[in-house]
Amino acid sequence: MRGLVALALLLAACAPQRVSIANYPELEATRGEALFMRYCHQCHPNGAAGLGPSLNDKPLPGFLIALQVRVGLGAMPAFGSGVISDAELDEIVAYVQALHRVAGER
Ligand code: HEC
Repeated sequence: MRGLVALALLLAACAPQRVSIANYPELEATRGEALFMRYCHQCHPNGAAGLGPSLNDKPLPGFLIALQVRVGLGAMPAFGSGVISDAELDEIVAYVQALHRVAGER
């Protein structure tokens, strides 16, 4: 399991155009980036469209992001609190919202 996580982080680190906290201090305060890379990035690369729709081109309300993660929809799996804790979900939501703000500044 630990190896898989390391591999996922390695792959995420190699992905082009990664939105890094180093470039955007606004994102620095959260663990949201690491969590997003682990659970969401594969389908919403850096918040852009992939297998899933882009998340950074619209102002998504926090409750909606959290609901989508907990319940899932269509091809998006649900993530229960045993996988992503409430505290972690808060950080992911904050990161997704920061991605939108950062995208608006570019
Ligand atoms: C296996 C691929 C996959 C993963 C992993 C995934 N998503 Fe999704 N996501 C999707 C798909 C597909 C949709 C569109 C679902 C639909 O409308 O049928 C979606 C939709 C969404 C939406 C709604 C977007 C909108 O325009 O309303 C949000 C918010 C979202 N995902 C957030 C997340 C977050 C946060 C994570 C990580 C915890 C995540 N997703 C992980 C595939 C994925």
